[in-house]
Amino acid sequence: MNILVAGGAGYIGSHTIVELLNSGHNVICVDNLSNSSKVAIDRVEEITNKKVLFYKTDLSDKNSLNDIFENNRIDACIMFAGLKAVGESTKKPLLYYMNNLTSFMNLVEVMISHNCYNIIFSSSATVYGLLAKSPISEDSYVGDLGKITNPYGKTKLIIEQMLFDIAKVNDKLKIVILRYFNPVGAHKSGLLGEDPRGIPNNLMPYIAKVAVGKMEKLHIYGNDYNTKDGTGVRDYIHVVDLAMGHVAALKIFETNKKSEDSGNGNVFVYNLGTGVGYSVLDVVNTYEKVNNIKINYVIDGRRDGDVDTLYCNPKKAREELNFKPQLGLDDMCRDSYNFQKNNPNGYN
Ligand code: NAD
Ligand code: UD1
Repeated sequence: MNILVAGGAGYIGSHTIVELLNSGHNVICVDNLSNSSKVAIDRVEEITNKKVLFYKTDLSDKNSLNDIFENNRIDACIMFAGLKAVGESTKKPLLYYMNNLTSFMNLVEVMISHNCYNIIFSSSATVYGLLAKSPISEDSYVGDLGKITNPYGKTKLIIEQMLFDIAKVNDKLKIVILRYFNPVGAHKSGLLGEDPRGIPNNLMPYIAKVAVGKMEKLHIYGNDYNTKDGTGVRDYIHVVDLAMGHVAALKIFETNKKSEDSGNGNVFVYNLGTGVGYSVLDVVNTYEKVNNIKINYVIDGRRDGDVDTLYCNPKKAREELNFKPQLGLDDMCRDSYNFQKNNPNGYN
């Protein structure tokens, strides 16, 4: 298929493009590089020895998007583009609503006007809200904006609801919503990985910075949770497995399968996680063990908005997409360090 990957220069997008190219698809990447570097795309080409057609374009620019669709036959879109920092979204809510919602609406409108009806959307476990009980199945979704504490998470829920509404009135559309749990790790080549700007918000990139001496120590947010060692438990999934989940999801577009997730059967929703929960200390200990290094840490107070335990029930993606993650916590920690060591200053 010819696939337009919006936000493809980013962390998950770049890894997904590698797997798409390796599976024989052609890729057109659209990214404004607001949170990424073109170097990632050059490296995708180096890894795969294949070409990516790259457009440095902002999805707010509908005319340019129209031109891209005029000039290319596009069979499906994967929508990764968006701003994703939870903390920043509470400080700049308008920026997040504007960027994430406008980008999504423009893409869908232009797609449909060019008779392209297949889209995969990057959603998040955040749509389940803080009170969801693990293991979380897709049907525990309640769609309640009031249960989401930050504008970033709200943009995910709003877009999901828009997709359900749009699908109701357009039978040709096929929509796959993928709810990621905690993507971590990097490509085993050491060429692609996560390159957050500034101080990382998430656990694994923070540990990586401590590992190479860019940060002094990890702050563990709370050791008084109701978990085996008191630290928060999450469902970490290797980014290469996550990328393979997108390749698996594309098969939906080639079948006549109907979904039970929406009234008229054209919206498919899947959790992408491993179904296994690891604590913060599990991650730190594994990082130390597989990389033979020391990670300095201190225990701090809890972070606002955190819950004790969050992991998915991965059964639906396994049964319907034949998707089973292959890589474990050892691989996640090894590959994260390998990228950080080889790229101490990220892509630049
Ligand atoms: P990322 O920031 O690395 O990638 C997003 C890409 O979108 C970046 O390259 C950025 O430059 C681009 N972009 C942003 N706004 C744009 C616009 N207006 N026009 C064109 N390009 C634009 O993030 P990621 O970690 O690769 O995440 C990809 C998607 O998955 C995001 O939608 C994110 O919300 C979602 N997600 C990520 C995680 C995670 O932990 N990384 C978890 C759940 C969901
Ligand atoms: C966070 C976001 C979530 C978002 C996801 C992916 C919050 C409250 N949640 O999820 O909305 O979808 O990232 O971007 O921000 N931890 C530390 N020290 C750190 C960082 C994290 O101890 O420096 C702990 C956290 O308390 C948590 C675990 O590590 O228990 C994982 O945290 P993180 O990687 O930020 O992911 P989530 O909180 O699951």
